[in-house]
Amino acid sequence: MSLAAIAAAASAKDIALNTPNTTLLLQAEPGARVYVRYYGSRLDDMSQVRNANIRGEEAYPCFGYGSGFISSMALGVTHSDGDLGTDLRYVSDSCTGFEGGTDYVVTTRDTKHNFEVDLCYRTYGNCDVIEMWTVIRNGEKKPVVLEKYASAALPFRKGDVWVSHEHGTWASEAWLTEEPLNAGRLEIADLSGTRNAMLNRPNIMLSLDGKPRENAGRTVGAVLCWSGNYRMTIDTDSGRYHHLVCGINETGSRYTLGRNECFTTPALAVVYSDEGKGGVSRNYHRWARLNGKIHNGQALRKTLLNSWEGVYLNVSQGAMEKMMDGVQALGAELFVMDDGWFGGKYKRSIDNCALGDWVTDTDKLPDGVPALEKAAAARGLKWGIWIEPEMTNTLSELYEKHPDWVICNPGREPVCGRGGTQLVLDMSNPAVQDYVFSIVDNIMKETPGTYYIKWDCNMDINSVGSSYLTSDRQSHLYVDYHLGLVRTLERIRANYPDLVIQDCASGGGRVNYGLMPYFDEFWTSDNTDAEQRLFIQWGTSMFFPPCAMAQHVSASPNHQTGRVLPLKFRFDVAMTGRLGMEMKPSDLSPEEFEFARNAFATYKEIRPVVQQGDLYRILSPYDSHGLASEIFVTEDKSEAVFFAYKFRQYANSPAWPCFRFDGLDPDAQYVLTELNRTSGPEPWEGKTFSGRFLMDTGIELSLGGVYSSCIIRCSSCR
Ligand code: GLA
Repeated sequence: MSLAAIAAAASAKDIALNTPNTTLLLQAEPGARVYVRYYGSRLDDMSQVRNANIRGEEAYPCFGYGSGFISSMALGVTHSDGDLGTDLRYVSDSCTGFEGGTDYVVTTRDTKHNFEVDLCYRTYGNCDVIEMWTVIRNGEKKPVVLEKYASAALPFRKGDVWVSHEHGTWASEAWLTEEPLNAGRLEIADLSGTRNAMLNRPNIMLSLDGKPRENAGRTVGAVLCWSGNYRMTIDTDSGRYHHLVCGINETGSRYTLGRNECFTTPALAVVYSDEGKGGVSRNYHRWARLNGKIHNGQALRKTLLNSWEGVYLNVSQGAMEKMMDGVQALGAELFVMDDGWFGGKYKRSIDNCALGDWVTDTDKLPDGVPALEKAAAARGLKWGIWIEPEMTNTLSELYEKHPDWVICNPGREPVCGRGGTQLVLDMSNPAVQDYVFSIVDNIMKETPGTYYIKWDCNMDINSVGSSYLTSDRQSHLYVDYHLGLVRTLERIRANYPDLVIQDCASGGGRVNYGLMPYFDEFWTSDNTDAEQRLFIQWGTSMFFPPCAMAQHVSASPNHQTGRVLPLKFRFDVAMTGRLGMEMKPSDLSPEEFEFARNAFATYKEIRPVVQQGDLYRILSPYDSHGLASEIFVTEDKSEAVFFAYKFRQYANSPAWPCFRFDGLDPDAQYVLTELNRTSGPEPWEGKTFSGRFLMDTGIELSLGGVYSSCIIRCSSCR
């Protein structure tokens, strides 16, 4: 070591960000760049990292001066004098405790310009999640332009590293893709403007020990808490690291910061676990439930019936009341009236009009919405209603009055969505934010008993332009839309903290942690086919907790796929999240009705385990055996519920597995009881097994024909 290197090492400071089981180690030194030296299982002796000569990589690599060996930049700035180079050096750091965790701020400053970036980190005591974001401050005399402003960069040492990510489309969300990281760039990005989880999702996992496994292997998760356009890149060059950079997608979004203005980037929430993908998922689930990352995360979610697939737009007082009778008899707790209930001059009897005209269509509902809420209350049911507040149609009174409120490329014809008429309102405009707030506020004033709102969003931004933003800030639209949306949701939450709100965007188009702090749950997919739901729900559960996943039993043949499935299979698949129905109860046969009634009662018994327990995914539907299984276990491991499904039929399949359990206490004794049973008891019914036996050896399941399924309750008898 040279004398200079020895002196530098002596003045270098370790900043260790610890969670219960992990450490992210930064190295900071006055006048030098900040480095990420280590991310992995918890370290108590940081000198090991230095002694092992692990150098790490820059924590926030910048464009234009001296970071050339790193292909991925986190920050690119055109400074007020036109200079493109930024060179951020450590100035100071601080840390502040809050209830449940610690916030760290590492302040850096450019060597030439009065321009600062705080590297911010938040750790939690109840899970192994670390949030990382930046605050970018312009102290220059004139505006600067942020060309690229990622939330964070994180290096990973090379090895047999695999990436798991999700892609999809309408009615087919969250397909899991797993691939090794090869040389070059892997990019996962979105430019939809409003629905950033419909195609690719802003969540990835990196398996550091080869092919991803469910419950073993060192694994890292990275989730961007942002509802707008994003970009996640992993560059693999000839160096020793893979470089992950995540943040807002800068395409079409150069952001101007005036003098003394600052910009806070959205958080990137990372997890490290040596328990594979399952360990990462369980950490995200706990983080979301316990730390407000989904709204009211510790409350038990109610069962419901939503009217959409039952009557579509053919809402009427009679149809709604008939469905309510069914909901009441089934023992579900909440009734939700979907699209079709509103419109004055234009009536929502087809899907090409009236968004924005949130007045009751009195042809369909002569006594108004309050009468329906009363009808629900009279049956002991909670009441919920559908809205799509950020949207309008060219055929609407709102658009006639405020044509300047829509997003549209100036001087060109509007590009319309659903029905050939749908348009997106400009949420960057404070007047539109006030209007969107008033939609919810008016519903709550007119019908104060409203328990639940389904908040939909069925269109992307595909014609960019804002009448509100000045010409030099048009490129702020994609970002300011979401800042405006969040501001509006914060206002709604300040006024209506107990209102249950579902995040829906043509199904799962907005399943992201930018919005979930304001929403209690999301509509997992418009596809309610139980077989495809096995895949969609499996993928979604990688990052989101089951209590937030709305899962509805619908008609057979299924409306999206035409598949005919037994009611038991449909219920058994829907019962791994927030159970609901999406059909007319009157379409059930008397036997089916009885089964459904019992299933709702059973679900209420296991609801605390499913909604608040730890999820262990076991047999993956992706493994081509036509089987899937998973188990939910309470934190104290006294109760568990195991689910298994068969969705392909092979005669004497050579791949028939042992049905093993996971996550139990090896030393506890569990009694097994089958739930939703439709045939005679299995030999293990009512018998007692040790947790160790159930996890090592498991039990034999009959799972006879295709589309058979099984739910087993495990109750500890100590
Ligand atoms: C979207 C939603 C559906 C339903 C319809 C109503 O597609 O995902 O669940 O609410 O809108 O138009």
